[in-house]
Amino acid sequence: MPLDILVGAQWGDEGKGRMVDLMAAEADYVARYSGGDNAGHTVHVGDDIYKLHLIPSGLVRPHTIGLLGNGLVVNPNTMLDEIMQLQQAGIEVGPERLKVSHAAHMVTPAHVALDRAQEHSRGDDLIGTTLRGIGPAYVDKIARHGLRFGQMLDEENFADLVYKHTEAANQQLTQIYNAEPLDAQVVAAEYLDYARNLQPYIADVSAIISEALSDGKIVLAEGAQGTLLDLDHGSYPYVTSSNPTAAGALIGLGVGFRDVHRVVGVAKSFQTRVGEGPFPTELEGEIAGRLRGTGEAHWDEYGTTTGRPRRVGWLDLVLLRYAVRVNGLSVLALTKLDILTGLDPLKLCVGYQKDGKIYKDLPMGPADLSGFEPIYEELRGWNVDISGARTWEDLPSAATAYIQRVESLAGVPVYWVSVGAERDQMVVIG
Ligand code: GDP
Ligand code: IMO
Ligand code: MG
Repeated sequence: MPLDILVGAQWGDEGKGRMVDLMAAEADYVARYSGGDNAGHTVHVGDDIYKLHLIPSGLVRPHTIGLLGNGLVVNPNTMLDEIMQLQQAGIEVGPERLKVSHAAHMVTPAHVALDRAQEHSRGDDLIGTTLRGIGPAYVDKIARHGLRFGQMLDEENFADLVYKHTEAANQQLTQIYNAEPLDAQVVAAEYLDYARNLQPYIADVSAIISEALSDGKIVLAEGAQGTLLDLDHGSYPYVTSSNPTAAGALIGLGVGFRDVHRVVGVAKSFQTRVGEGPFPTELEGEIAGRLRGTGEAHWDEYGTTTGRPRRVGWLDLVLLRYAVRVNGLSVLALTKLDILTGLDPLKLCVGYQKDGKIYKDLPMGPADLSGFEPIYEELRGWNVDISGARTWEDLPSAATAYIQRVESLAGVPVYWVSVGAERDQMVVIG
């Protein structure tokens, strides 16, 4: 009856999609538990590249069932679009293979408009959101006037609720942000249409998982975003509006503690971030260019959701150790080791210095990173192509030394190391 939870250990885009795809080979159910279509998860199988924002990446494996838990904010338009895209790619997705919780919240055009207006009004202090309406949708949830998927089942009232919701948002849009109002009639009609299409997908996801676990099935919780984007534990206020950390999976799926088997953290072999906020090991110049890539390859560091160039830097072990702590990570998957090929020396941030004091851990969490200067340890690089490595023995000694140093500083074992974007470009250690 195991529940495995997979989380991003950094600022998102760690390669969760490809790790979910790997673990889904053994899973029966794959469940998203937080966030919405702000995520962008890539799965690369042969010539096919899937970029999924909402539907669990595990659905690329044909034997799985996908779940969208109560912790999500779901844009119904994206959900229907992705179902269609997958079907066009020959992956059967219908109500028998995909369920959304009756308690999941909806993202509406009003949320998207508010996200845009709020970012605009922040001026230079913007967060750099994905502009998918995620923050405003969670605000409505917390304020207890959000729209939930269960309400789609009552068509007559639903259209009215969407109408009133849009009109209320229009007040904010016009009076606070000086922005254009939305046509509430049009939005209500659009959402009624979505409701008619999505009704067969609505279910009690918590009950489905509970039954699956008692039947001995394997459930994989697919994290979105990353630990440092967590609303409570991340680099606040430059965070998302949900809890991507492991405990968020329990709340966001309606599962208890008893069934948790492993918590797998996915970390890139270096550090990236998209959007604003502190980044102590950030690099500019030639090495940054090498880590980021030119944008020609799909794995280059340009946002899967927004196309923005990602900020890049050396791997930060202070922050990784923090991710191990707040998620209770059991093991790590280290991705994109191939990208470090040809860089010599390599650097790992092993501590910080501030006002003449040395810190091995952050005194007040990652929200206050200003003034913390990284202390680096240098390691040897390697120059041979590692993208064909499949076993520990295939890796050059400098690469195994890098992995072992990461393990020892993070305090948990590295079970997987990926050396290319394709499904089989993986060294399994654990
Ligand atoms: P996610 O949001 O955590 O699922 O990650 P993204 O899909 O947004 O970004 C990760 C990118 O790196 C994708 O383009 C992946 O195909 C790619 N990728 C994952 N693992 C590797 C790897 O080991 N090597 C290379 N070169 N690319 C990888
Ligand atoms: P995956 O699942 C990287 C970032 C945004 C912004 C902040 C808030 O692909 O790892 P939001 O739209 O959520 O209100 O934006 O969070 N962000 C991500 N960065 N990967 C993601 O998802 C992200 N989802 C949100 O760039 O800084
Ligand atoms: Mg991503």
